[in-house]
Amino acid sequence: MNPRAKELLDWYDHNARRLPWRTSPQARATGELPDPYRVWLSEIMLQQTTVAAVRSYFERFTSLWPTVYDLAAAPDAQVMGEWAGLGYYARARNLLKCARVVAFDMGGAFPCDPDALQALPGIGPYTAAAITAIAFDRPATVVDGNVERVMARLHDIHTPLPAAKLELTEKAAIVTPQDRPGDYAQAVMDLGATLCTPKNPACGLCPWRVPCRARAEGTAASLPKKTPK
Ligand code: ADE
Repeated sequence: MNPRAKELLDWYDHNARRLPWRTSPQARATGELPDPYRVWLSEIMLQQTTVAAVRSYFERFTSLWPTVYDLAAAPDAQVMGEWAGLGYYARARNLLKCARVVAFDMGGAFPCDPDALQALPGIGPYTAAAITAIAFDRPATVVDGNVERVMARLHDIHTPLPAAKLELTEKAAIVTPQDRPGDYAQAVMDLGATLCTPKNPACGLCPWRVPCRARAEGTAASLPKKTPK
């Protein structure tokens, strides 16, 4: 495994956030994979919504509808009612459409590759990659705002977003390991959410403090740059 991925995974093994859609560290150590239904549900909820806001909704949805079959059979109005407060209601309508395709046309099994996942309602490139990596532990490069920030800093890239997108995606792909890609994807997200934050990054605690180019240059807090709207 490349040394960057190893440094990050070692950190994640001790610092992973305990989130309701993740398996326990013990289960992870035995190679147990999370339920694709729970991974999918969490990733849809986390589009445009923070982890803190999603937690209670995720718990409520999975207790009302523990499997994709339960959700597929739920009345539209009840699902829309439970979604109230999360916003972006097109997500909830696509959530139900997707649950019904998976339950009724796919025998209840989510596809395990990004192209097949992207053909489902409500699943774009980011979510397809996240499900592939996290639910199936297959290599897929997950690039969200956290990952863009971390890569811009690690490589001290000053090209503003969105022009830098392709370069940041390439950098992210190079570090993604073949082994433990699911943990790796979640580790970069946790790094971006807890240490490599937009303001006041906690560089002293970062597993990448030594290789980080932006830390060496003193530019971390100013990256990534953004083209004004
Ligand atoms: N944001 C989006 N997906 C996430 C995940 N699986 N863990 C933490 N933060 C996330």
